[in-house]
Amino acid sequence: MKIALNGASGYTGRLAAAELARRGIDAVLVGRDSERLRAASARTGFEVRIADIRDQDTLEVAFRGVDAVVNAAGPFARLGSPVVRAAIAAEAHYVDTAGEQQYIKNVFDTFADAATHAGVTVVPAMADDGGAGDFISHLLGEATGAADVMTVAVWYRGGILSRGTLRSLDPDLLFGGALRYENGGWTSYGEASHLSWRFPDEQEVVEVSKAALPPVATVPRHVSVERMEGLLGGSFDRLKSGIDAAVIDSLPEGPDDEQRRQARWTISVEAATAGGRTARGEVEGTDGYGKTAVIAVEAARRLVADGAKAGVLAPSQAFDPESFLGFLSGHGVRWQITQG
Ligand SMILES: NC(=O)c1ccc[n+]([C@@H]2O[C@H](COP(=O)([O-])OP(=O)(O)OC[C@H]3O[C@@H](n4cnc5c(N)ncnc54)[C@H](OP(=O)(O)O)[C@@H]3O)[C@@H](O)[C@H]2O)c1
Repeated sequence: MKIALNGASGYTGRLAAAELARRGIDAVLVGRDSERLRAASARTGFEVRIADIRDQDTLEVAFRGVDAVVNAAGPFARLGSPVVRAAIAAEAHYVDTAGEQQYIKNVFDTFADAATHAGVTVVPAMADDGGAGDFISHLLGEATGAADVMTVAVWYRGGILSRGTLRSLDPDLLFGGALRYENGGWTSYGEASHLSWRFPDEQEVVEVSKAALPPVATVPRHVSVERMEGLLGGSFDRLKSGIDAAVIDSLPEGPDDEQRRQARWTISVEAATAGGRTARGEVEGTDGYGKTAVIAVEAARRLVADGAKAGVLAPSQAFDPESFLGFLSGHGVRWQITQG
């Protein structure tokens, strides 16, 4: 098995390279900056291939002969589509670490036919929120049957965001431009359904904002639900007004090892049935960046080792949700379904 890691010189990319090495999976590190890539290669011993995302032909050549591509180069709204296209052209499966809801939906809208035709599987959003959130929503859907309303609330605390994440957070898209699912499609909407949310094991309710979360773009593809929307826990006054690019450039590249250990994330999904019953699925862990690397690498490994239907798939369409969450339990991720 050989996996190409695109964006291997970045913060998340380096974590994914370390995870590939830890798992003993042969990899090719792909990126535009030979010096930064060689530094990543020095730590792992992996082959390096130079390709700028803006040069489609070179990128396709870089992916030739690999079984799957893990793409960790964001912002995905700007950089994602050419990488999906090159992976499909090279007949390699594809997963990415995207958290950008509109990009994720766009991958389904744009590449379904090409991926099916090439016989490869494309699974965007294999990160902590997109992957684990999709899996727990699927298990919740199985436990409750068809839901009238599903709401996913995500809460990050105790850590800091990487520069790459901050560059990928377009406040207009993340907050105002969030899509919700209703009437069989995805649309923008006005106010959020909730101003606060009760997360598991917390005494106080947490302030939440309407947000463009990945599971909203993937879950309605495999769970029968009338309406679904996303909420982000915490206060985001600074993010909502936008952070100047120069300020982002001056920040640390990402959390250091201690900050990664302190960082916690919780995904809390509620399903309400037309009959008034509610149930919750909750999944939580630490070190969102480290878990994202683990999730993306395991997803690519499973696509190659176990295979999946060709096309663009949601995480739960490509992988068995319980098996994948069981794998993540070995990395300290906890999950539960509770009937209300
Ligand atoms: N839970 C989540 O949703 C989640 C978790 C983790 C990461 N992410 C996402 O993953 C992405 C990466 O985050 P990060 O912190 O790792 O960012 P980063 O450190 O800025 O890394 C970005 C990578 O993209 C590469 N790149 C940029 N422009 C390129 C181009 N034209 N051609 C080739 N490569 C190019 C960079 O290469 P250079 O080194 O040459 O600049 C670098 O390797 C972000 O979109 C982030 O939001 C999401």
